[in-house]
Amino acid sequence: MRTQVCIIGGGPSGLMLSQLLHVRGIQSVLLEKHTRDYVLSRIRAGVIEHGFAKLMREAQCGERMDREGEVHDGFYIASNDKLHRIDLHKYSGGDSVIVYGQTELTRDLYEARDRMGGVVVHEAEDVALHDLTMDRPSVTYRKDGAGHRVECDFVIGADGFHGVSRKAIPANLLREYERVYPFGWLGILSRTKPVSPELIYSRHERGFALCSLRSQVLSRYYIQVPLTDTVEDWPDDAFWAELKRRLPDEVAARLITGPSIEKSIAALRSFVAEPMQYGRLYLAGDAAHIVPPTGARGLNTAASDIYYLYHALVDHYAKGDDAGLQTYSDRALARVWKAQRFSWWMTSLLHRFPESSAYDGKLQQVELDYLLSSEKALGSLAENYVGLPY
Ligand code: APR
Ligand code: PHB
Repeated sequence: MRTQVCIIGGGPSGLMLSQLLHVRGIQSVLLEKHTRDYVLSRIRAGVIEHGFAKLMREAQCGERMDREGEVHDGFYIASNDKLHRIDLHKYSGGDSVIVYGQTELTRDLYEARDRMGGVVVHEAEDVALHDLTMDRPSVTYRKDGAGHRVECDFVIGADGFHGVSRKAIPANLLREYERVYPFGWLGILSRTKPVSPELIYSRHERGFALCSLRSQVLSRYYIQVPLTDTVEDWPDDAFWAELKRRLPDEVAARLITGPSIEKSIAALRSFVAEPMQYGRLYLAGDAAHIVPPTGARGLNTAASDIYYLYHALVDHYAKGDDAGLQTYSDRALARVWKAQRFSWWMTSLLHRFPESSAYDGKLQQVELDYLLSSEKALGSLAENYVGLPY
């Protein structure tokens, strides 16, 4: 088959781009390795920057997000048994975030693709990229035992950290930067009323904890755990007891517990691959970069990649202007690295590092004390959390 843009990966990045291009009359074919149910079964973060929310609306997919998502003007940092509210609205100059599950956002994008007759191929196996440095690249795959080839103008690698696209860039041209953290996040989902109307990030000597939500009847909680832990080490009762130990007494006292409907441990990693383009291949989202979930930047950094790619492709097809395509990697990486910095900073501020010295501990406490005492520091936190400009 022939199309203009072949997108590999049916996660938020690939779906968002496919939908945005469609709205502007640009054809795409999206190849996804797994079934839709499998993709939608993955539980991911749920904080949407205002820039991403605008993209969802421009993609004609923002209606349920605006109806069911919660606008949050702030969040709390808990430390030394005290709650400190971070007023995002005040310190960002009037912006906020939307709390809306990535699963729901991905579902909305899939439904929009279906509604608009989008070509989304599930269970596409053995995806391979060809002739990326020629004017007519192509992508092959197998489906139900039959081989297929997609002839296209551009290939978008939106296939996540474990995808094939990044590996299509010659090793001698690819530079990878990585930091692996010495702990993981054990997360649970429970059909309980959230303990707080706004998120609580808790810094505690026993380890980090996070109180989040998906709705007023669906809570999401995390605790920092050693990398050697497994889900089996944490029956629900043990999880709830540990979460309470890491929260201020007033919060722990009102925590409503219940059976977990999802429980998993995620490793924390910072990763960036440069460049994010090679010939007619452009990488977007987790295919090119990963952040620890602390700052909720993963999905939102994928969004800015998509924003740059979307406008570059529209300029190419509508005006024959390739400046956006030629500068994509540099533009995307400038914002990617700022998200890396913020995610690393928030992770360093709030987690207990096993190897940290007494001096490190004092430095971490004074970093928090400084943040809470400085309007300028709070302004920096707020502008990063609501989303730096594209
Ligand atoms: N062929 C086709 N599809 C593939 C292949 C392949 N070889 N390898 C992976 N995929 C698919 C995966 O099944 C997945 O659905 O690509 C998709 C990539 O989606 P994500 O991993 O969600 O990445 P992205 O769309 O960039 O979204 C980034 O997801 O992981 C979170 O924290 C991250 O919130 C961020 C968001
Ligand atoms: C979540 O709700 O899963 C979540 C929220 C905020 C974060 C990380 C995860 O910083």
